[in-house]
Amino acid sequence: MDRRKFIQQSCSLCVAVGAGMVVGSLSSCSVLPTYKTSIANNKVTVPVALFTQGNFQLIQPKNLYYNIGLKKEADGTYTALLLKCTHADNQLTPAGNSGYKCTLHGSTFNMDGKVTAGPAERPLKKYTTEVISDQIIIHLS
Ligand code: FES
Repeated sequence: MDRRKFIQQSCSLCVAVGAGMVVGSLSSCSVLPTYKTSIANNKVTVPVALFTQGNFQLIQPKNLYYNIGLKKEADGTYTALLLKCTHADNQLTPAGNSGYKCTLHGSTFNMDGKVTAGPAERPLKKYTTEVISDQIIIHLS
């Protein structure tokens, strides 16, 4: 094989591997609906319009260490859970429709915040919510 042909084949292989890595990383990437906001008067306000295309939003208040999982229920109410593991305070990760998981020691919680696998034993903290006009108010106290 001459030098020119070797370089052409090597470059083709690099492009193919690189394209495969990009496609692979994109297919494993799930985009979670996330709303960044802040806390005012111990409340977090979220637009109802965010739920036109799904029943879940991850809320990231910038002055709160933990995220909040906000789910629209079938009856039109909203469930807001603090995504803080009740075992040792690790940030929880949404696990699709099954609930939330803790990557530190493996606890899992369902979408209502109940423990489905330990070592955690207590449910997640649930916040009171109300809808006023076109806003969902999450009361943090
Ligand atoms: S901190 Fe979550 S299981 Fe231990």
